[in-house]
Amino acid sequence: MNEAAELRADFDRLAEIGRHPDGGWARPAFGAADCAAHDWFLDRARGAGLSARYDAFGNAIARLEGDGRQAIVFGSHLDTVVQGGAFDGALGVMAGLEVVRRIAASGGIGRPLEVVAFRDEEGRFGPFVGSRAMMGRLPLDTLDKLRAADGSLLVDALRAAGFAPEAAGEAARDPAQIGAYLELHIEQGPVLERAGVPLGIVSAIAGQERLAIRFTGQTDHAGTTPMAMRRDAFAATARFADRFRDLILADASETLRGTIGIVNLMPNQGNVVPGEVRLGLEIRDIEAAAVERTARATEALAADVGQAFGCTVKTRSVFRDAPVVMDDRLRAVLAHCADGSGARSMVLPSGANHDAGVIGRLVPSAMLFVPSQGGRSHCPEEHTDWPHIALAADVLEAAVRRLGTAPWMT
Ligand code: HGY
Ligand code: MN
Ligand code: MN
Repeated sequence: MNEAAELRADFDRLAEIGRHPDGGWARPAFGAADCAAHDWFLDRARGAGLSARYDAFGNAIARLEGDGRQAIVFGSHLDTVVQGGAFDGALGVMAGLEVVRRIAASGGIGRPLEVVAFRDEEGRFGPFVGSRAMMGRLPLDTLDKLRAADGSLLVDALRAAGFAPEAAGEAARDPAQIGAYLELHIEQGPVLERAGVPLGIVSAIAGQERLAIRFTGQTDHAGTTPMAMRRDAFAATARFADRFRDLILADASETLRGTIGIVNLMPNQGNVVPGEVRLGLEIRDIEAAAVERTARATEALAADVGQAFGCTVKTRSVFRDAPVVMDDRLRAVLAHCADGSGARSMVLPSGANHDAGVIGRLVPSAMLFVPSQGGRSHCPEEHTDWPHIALAADVLEAAVRRLGTAPWMT
């Protein structure tokens, strides 16, 4: 096994960007650290002899030119959640660069190869806006409405980073140029580690629906208003949150997940009965039907609870994406190369979403997972052991070499 020393050195260098002195990483999309990470990646790619450019949406693309056939593309993302870890996304970009560098050093495989760092995978301004822009799936007529939780506008962030929002449509590519998309990623859950298996081959990426829910009650004095007279929007929220969890746990699907990740309380003051609460929640499952039935049941639950607490309820579905099945032929190539490495691999679904979930709707796509220590992710403790990473990089390289002659790609 190649020890992947250069990959590790790159990874460590990248991890210096956006690292918080108190622990954790923060590279929110289009912020200073995110821009520095993308610039650094393109410089590094140029240093390796690749052509390197930004597309019109700020996705960073490193390319090893080849013949006129379809390209094999690797990708992931360099942005992080706030107080996130070093591995989510960054590993896939750095591993892609490593594989392309190795293949370039041995004279290429004929086909062009590309490594893409997709912008805003974590959804600061909206889910997967970078990969959706590249796949022509981002509605450009409403681009100026997309905002981060802090109120900042995507179009302003694009401009500040040096990209003209008016030109964002030019990022869209013809999917027929791409023969295959491969993403190496940390599992972000406990399955591989518990099984003691170092490599995971993803069967499908979970679908999801996100709901925005607003409970509106009445703002009142906290010291004087009798309990029975209150229309406390937070009391309604608390009951709703508990029953939402019960709804998820009672469902027959074991892969169903439900999370209330956003709670905004108004006026958020100690001596005032909260008059309004805005929630953001998401529901995910590998089965589209489970997401659908849970989303509708959640809306009904919110209405019931609101009524019981004297609150009006407004529910809006803000994002919906069906599950994406990974390509059988690419999965078979990954499994073959994993076997060839002598290591064990297993098939598993991905509860986390990825750029492969966007690309995979239009281009044959597959994902290779490495174990997450303790199943932890989206937190500073996120870690994957380097021998697992080195092994996965070897398997990825072998898979790409094999795909060089795949008869089903043009
Ligand atoms: O939301 C996700 O699953 C991913 O981490 N962006
Ligand atoms: Mn990720
Ligand atoms: Mn993530």
